[in-house]
Amino acid sequence: MRGFFVTFEGGEGSGKTTQLKTLLGHLRSAGRDVVETRDPGGTAIGNQIRGLLLDGENARMDSLTELLLYEASRAQLVQEIVQPVLAAGRILLCDRFTDSTVAYQGYGRGVDLDLIGRLNASAARGIRPDLTFFLDLDPVVGLERVKRRLAPSRAPRDRLEGEALAFHERVRQGFRALAATEPERVIALDAVQSLAELAAEIRRRVDARLGPAEAAPGTRRRSE
Ligand code: TMP
Repeated sequence: MRGFFVTFEGGEGSGKTTQLKTLLGHLRSAGRDVVETRDPGGTAIGNQIRGLLLDGENARMDSLTELLLYEASRAQLVQEIVQPVLAAGRILLCDRFTDSTVAYQGYGRGVDLDLIGRLNASAARGIRPDLTFFLDLDPVVGLERVKRRLAPSRAPRDRLEGEALAFHERVRQGFRALAATEPERVIALDAVQSLAELAAEIRRRVDARLGPAEAAPGTRRRSE
């Protein structure tokens, strides 16, 4: 039995987390068995690694160190969550996954893409998302959204959000290249659309792939 694996990708402030939560609500209200998680993080060990990765104090982190930490968090996530959830035939929604490593470490930092491909496959144990939504947004707009979101709390920007605009432009190119290479899996969506429009498009595509939800008890059709 194999469940259904959906990932959300995009640059800073692209709205992917909001869309993940909206889809989660929709699927649950349709009676589907759905689990949500995030990468990096999603496990106790992964959340500690996430803390290291996002800590603005760690500005001197080497690119290879960074890559290996993302892969370490992912290896744990796949072993603890992704594999068992999919093996149980459930639906899994994940906030970022292997494509982020291609975009951020590969296109953003310039780390060798073959190396990233091999590490991604090992950490993910060969598991690939069935469907990926890439929320495509001009990084100038995305970073502005992040700044506004942080302003009331006066929280410092995290290590990657603080990178130069040119870095975020390269990350966007990376995601676009992935969407162009794997159009069946990676669906690029224009993230300047309203939240409701985006949510409707995502819901439509997921429902089409999943087929009708099993009828809840007491609502069976007569022909069954
Ligand atoms: P976010 O999920 O809250 O956006 O934060 C995760 C940050 O980590 C974000 O800046 C993207 C970055 N990231 C990578 O650089 N490589 C990766 O492989 C992943 C999963 C995330």
